[in-house]
Amino acid sequence: MKSVLVTGSNGQLGKSIQKVYKKSAKFDFTFTTSKELDITNPELIQDFFKNSNFDYCINCAAYTNVEQAEKEPEKAFEVNAEGVRNLANVCKEKNIILIHISTDYVFDGEQIEPYAVNDVPNPINEYGKSKLKGEEYIQEILTAFFIIRTSWLYNKEFGKNFYKTIIEKAETEEVLYITDVQKGCPTNTENLALFILKLIVSNDTNFGIFHFTDHEVMTWYDFAKRILIENKMINKVKLEKVKNYRTFAARPKNSTLASETNILNNEN
Ligand SMILES: NC(=O)c1ccc[n+]([C@@H]2O[C@H](COP(=O)([O-])OP(=O)(O)OC[C@H]3O[C@@H](n4cnc5c(N)ncnc54)[C@H](OP(=O)(O)O)[C@@H]3O)[C@@H](O)[C@H]2O)c1
Repeated sequence: MKSVLVTGSNGQLGKSIQKVYKKSAKFDFTFTTSKELDITNPELIQDFFKNSNFDYCINCAAYTNVEQAEKEPEKAFEVNAEGVRNLANVCKEKNIILIHISTDYVFDGEQIEPYAVNDVPNPINEYGKSKLKGEEYIQEILTAFFIIRTSWLYNKEFGKNFYKTIIEKAETEEVLYITDVQKGCPTNTENLALFILKLIVSNDTNFGIFHFTDHEVMTWYDFAKRILIENKMINKVKLEKVKNYRTFAARPKNSTLASETNILNNEN
């Protein structure tokens, strides 16, 4: 039986892995929260891994507040870069395959076409820069790794995300102003969780960088409309497009990842 550690397991992806893996008895999973295993603390990591025998580490731990990262970039780098380096070092020492989640925000969004894995990253905000640094550390330290870039993660039950925010706002507000400036691929964390588990089950050793999304390209406005229709709320609230929705962090206009690895067409 494969032994798998999941860090940052209280986040929306971590919870989705917990939900999805329960359907299978093929793994011996250890789930750690930020309180149980802070990836920024190298001594703690050494201690935690000392007597362990993990085959895989799925790193779901991250600093994910894109807006706040502009105000405190050092905190984003501490988790998304240095924390990831700590994990990569211990994975090397203990011969553990690291499965790490990265982001569409490593790209600047100026390209017209969807971004392929070999396109050159050029992040335009602190969150993206910190995630790219994490990717670079992994590639310097490890050969046995999967870096999975994904985009616009949401879950209908867990976490704070666009899907749940739209439903909450539609309950209380009359008009929702949603930007249609950026486009990307919303991705359900449960599909990503299934993709990750499949890498493990199949003993995949095709290591490197992957893009995984739910494929369908849309703007935030389109996504909001989809959510309202799906929840039979489209007549409850007025949806207005806005062009100049102001944020601290610059956002890539085109966040679309060419997602050659998709659970839906990768069933063989
Ligand atoms: N959300 C998106 O739209 C999106 C898009 C593309 C890529 N991603 C990437 O996908 C991955 C999963 O994202 P998510 O949406 O599931 O994130 P999330 O819900 O924000 O969860 C992140 C988890 O990391 C934990 N964490 C933070 N600092 C930590 C530390 N020092 N040590 C250990 N754990 C720590 C957090 O714990 P606390 O709850 O205690 O803070 C939280 O449970 C991340 O790598 C993210 O960068 C996300």
